[in-house]
Amino acid sequence: MTLSQLQQAIERHFAAGPSAIGDPSAMTAFLSLRAGLESGELRAASPDPASPTGWRVNAWVKQGILLGFRLGVLGELPAGSLSFVDKHTYPVRHFTAGDGVRLVPGGSSIRAGAYVARGVVCMPPMYINAGAWVDEGAMVDSHALVGSCAQIGKRVHLSAAAQIGGVLEPVNAGPVIIEDDVLVGGNSGVYEGTIVRRGAVLAAGTILTRGTPVFDLVRDQILRATAELPLIISENAVVVPGSRAVTKGRGQKWGLSLYAPVIVKYRDEKTDLSTTLEDLLR
Ligand SMILES: CC(C)(COP(=O)(O)OP(=O)(O)OC[C@H]1O[C@@H](n2cnc3c(N)ncnc32)[C@H](O)[C@@H]1OP(=O)(O)O)[C@@H](O)C(=O)NCCC(=O)NCCS
Repeated sequence: MTLSQLQQAIERHFAAGPSAIGDPSAMTAFLSLRAGLESGELRAASPDPASPTGWRVNAWVKQGILLGFRLGVLGELPAGSLSFVDKHTYPVRHFTAGDGVRLVPGGSSIRAGAYVARGVVCMPPMYINAGAWVDEGAMVDSHALVGSCAQIGKRVHLSAAAQIGGVLEPVNAGPVIIEDDVLVGGNSGVYEGTIVRRGAVLAAGTILTRGTPVFDLVRDQILRATAELPLIISENAVVVPGSRAVTKGRGQKWGLSLYAPVIVKYRDEKTDLSTTLEDLLR
């Protein structure tokens, strides 16, 4: 099947709704898509300089991922003496030493339909969901989540407990994208299609959603999502968690403040030093 034939098949079976269930050609199309996702040939979103965000969402690929959930029935997934039950179309991925991925033992799981490049290190426990892309040299630390369709760039460090939200529906919604060489600090969360440009640093505890304004002290601007564009964190920005005073109403009367991520600087030598990874551990 060529790529365009696969796309047509996925679109047709997705449009067929529940009647695709039990159709062997729908399952064949889904399994080709899933294999393409795992080999890195297909992805839910791809770099595209012509797009305003620099990324293009491949809606048909997301339709195919959703089709897999529709076609799946609950099945038992063997795992030694443990027992798991999930859609049979999304079992746990298996790796060999030849894949060049370090999957350290201890409660981690990488779902079928996820791409994990050579040189990625997965510290337990962590989870990488279907449709996610994790590029070369990335580190997914303990308790980190890479949600469905999230795109994680080369040499990104997802620190302990970093949560990268999944975006599956609607199919044209952009996933969370963490570009190359970003550090996502411990206990951070990036959700709702937010894009973090290359080299940026999110200090521990930074949370970014579509509704979160980000205050750039250096460039004297406030970054926000719009109706058309997600929240986009600038290249090399260093974002730390801050707060801002509520200036009206009861919030002001009660002396409240709201969480406010702040860009305090752009990456410099000191940041490079603070974020250097222990090469020996890799
Ligand atoms: C952001 C970080 C990398 C520091 O970067 P840096 O370039 O060395 O930052 P600096 O120390 O120059 O600080 C710049 C400003 O931001 C402030 N700042 C730095 N880190 C901050 C944080 N986490 N929260 C709030 N403010 C912070 C500093 O106080 C300084 O402000 P000031 O000049 O008014 O004092 C570091 O704070 C961080 O969060 N590292 C990640 C830790 C982590 O999660 N490790 C993973 C373990 S698995």
